[in-house]
Amino acid sequence: MSDNLMDKIVSLCKRRGFIFQGSEIYGGLANTWDYGPLGVELKRNVKDAWWKENVQMRSDMVGLDAAILMHPEVWKASGHVKSFIDKYKDCLVCKKRIKADDPRWNPKKPNKCPECGNDGVGLTDAREFNLMLRTTLGALGVGGAETYLRPETAQGIFVNFSNILNTTRKKLPFGVAQIGKAFRNEVTPGNFTFRTREFEQMEIEYFVLPNEADKFYKQWINDRFDWYLKLGMKEENLKKREHKKEELAHYALACTDIEYKFPFGWSELEGIANRGDFDLRQHQDCSKKDLSYEKSLPFIIEPSGGVDRAILAFLVDAYREEEVRGQQRVVLGLGKQLAPIKVAVLPLLKKNKEIVDLCKRIAADLERSFFCAYDDTASIGRLYRRQDEIGTCYCVTVDVESLGDSKVTVRDRDSMKQDRIDVGNVGQYLKDNLG
Ligand code: GAP
Repeated sequence: MSDNLMDKIVSLCKRRGFIFQGSEIYGGLANTWDYGPLGVELKRNVKDAWWKENVQMRSDMVGLDAAILMHPEVWKASGHVKSFIDKYKDCLVCKKRIKADDPRWNPKKPNKCPECGNDGVGLTDAREFNLMLRTTLGALGVGGAETYLRPETAQGIFVNFSNILNTTRKKLPFGVAQIGKAFRNEVTPGNFTFRTREFEQMEIEYFVLPNEADKFYKQWINDRFDWYLKLGMKEENLKKREHKKEELAHYALACTDIEYKFPFGWSELEGIANRGDFDLRQHQDCSKKDLSYEKSLPFIIEPSGGVDRAILAFLVDAYREEEVRGQQRVVLGLGKQLAPIKVAVLPLLKKNKEIVDLCKRIAADLERSFFCAYDDTASIGRLYRRQDEIGTCYCVTVDVESLGDSKVTVRDRDSMKQDRIDVGNVGQYLKDNLG
């Protein structure tokens, strides 16, 4: 299944309203994606789960929502203007652009294209591309101030270090969390939402005493790995990979990636870096503002993940096909915390007004506590299949007997087990089972 699993995910996302091609009615803008009615719920659930765990449930963490546009000097100080560069070679035979540090290059045959095997005749020298996305501030455009759309949310946290310290009176170790958009002029975007030029990050900058940096670096690697497991990701599809020295970003002393086994291979989901005091030192030197804490600069441990990548991994991980009584059913087995719709209320007979009215009353009651859907646009078998395919945790079905005994059927998405319960107890049943 893994060969065409990505195609199935992309198709399901479009068909059921998770993710659409950006600007589709104009022919689409390549590698831009819009989250539809279900996708936006899934995205909120992922971000809420991250925020709850990393801000609301921790007394050593606070949140921030900094501006996307920052003073252009920020990007000089951060090293991005000079060093945020990818090197690529172009194959003139197969026309592929391949990263100069792609592990598939054969060191003994540096001129052999790893894509098509052409040996030396048609390769450009490695060329450098800066990934910063430039923009101009000011209505006239010409002569306006040039700056960049931020390529990471992190810098907003570093430049607010003193503000946060002064207003919260936090003591080390403490951290600042932020979720927000980031932009990169990626040379080779692709694999659906995996690599795009506009994406969202969930970043933590955790400020520590230098002699405790290694301890917290290791702790965060484990905490972040466990977060994906807690939300239901399968452990066999996750691994940690430590960066070699030559791979490290210009600011990092050490970095470990959490990788996911995507259908296109093991790839980075999140990176946890020890950034040392690089960022605070750079901003202190360039802004001439004192950014020290008790006379020295803290070290920073940075767990940095992508919202879109996490969503893609959760979707891939959750997708399964099963055969039930000779029929195929597709199930999006998302963790209950992440599933966009928690419960769907379905009438067994959509032409029976009493049944429909009871369904609508139940739905109106449930939607005060759960994201709830009502659907009467197909037969019950088809309605179940639709809800399974979008990961709805429970279906409540109302039939003729419900009108007499006030009991309804509650069906579990994964086991398909059905419980017959009193209408008045459905809310409590869902609370108990959704956790
Ligand atoms: N502040 C550190 C930083 O930005 P990064 O490894 O470049 O580190 C962190 O990015 C995370 O952001 C990645 O692990 C990935 O999940 C996400 N990310 C980076 N570039 C991306 C892109 N072009 N498209 C989607 N997500 C991306």
